[in-house]
Amino acid sequence: MMTRILMVCLGNICRSPLAHGIMASKLSEDSFYVDSAGTAAYHIGNSPDKRSIAVAKQHNLDISTQSARQFKVSDFDTFDYIFAMDQSNYDNIISLARNSDDVKKVSLFLEANSNIQNKNLPDPYYGDHSDFEYVYDLINETCSILAKKIND
Ligand code: 4NP
Repeated sequence: MMTRILMVCLGNICRSPLAHGIMASKLSEDSFYVDSAGTAAYHIGNSPDKRSIAVAKQHNLDISTQSARQFKVSDFDTFDYIFAMDQSNYDNIISLARNSDDVKKVSLFLEANSNIQNKNLPDPYYGDHSDFEYVYDLINETCSILAKKIND
């Protein structure tokens, strides 16, 4: 059986493409389907931000072929786990939930990581390369924890 995991941020160009690529790299393609989406429509069809592509490439991960899409209500049917990158993304997703089953699928991505107090993954869009490196490292650490948990 396939387990389906969706990573969600605002634009689907900075944070969730990294979470998508990193998580997929830690799980077997035979058993897991990983995707990402944004709650906003601004960047539909765009490639990930060039700074996310660059920081991923530094870690030998190619996310350049991803294309941004908007979160849609049917994602609640498609996915088993929906991870929101910050509280605002979480609230936006929950506002589209139709019932308690939908709500149960959604959590804050960083809730999985007990090493970090602030459960909002910072948006690096207005930042510089070091902000993207920080976000990469935090996503990578959290995906390792999550992959271990989901694989058990
Ligand atoms: P993301 O970052 O949610 O991590 O993809 C953002 C990208 C674009 C915008 C905001 C956040 N924007 O306002 O265009």
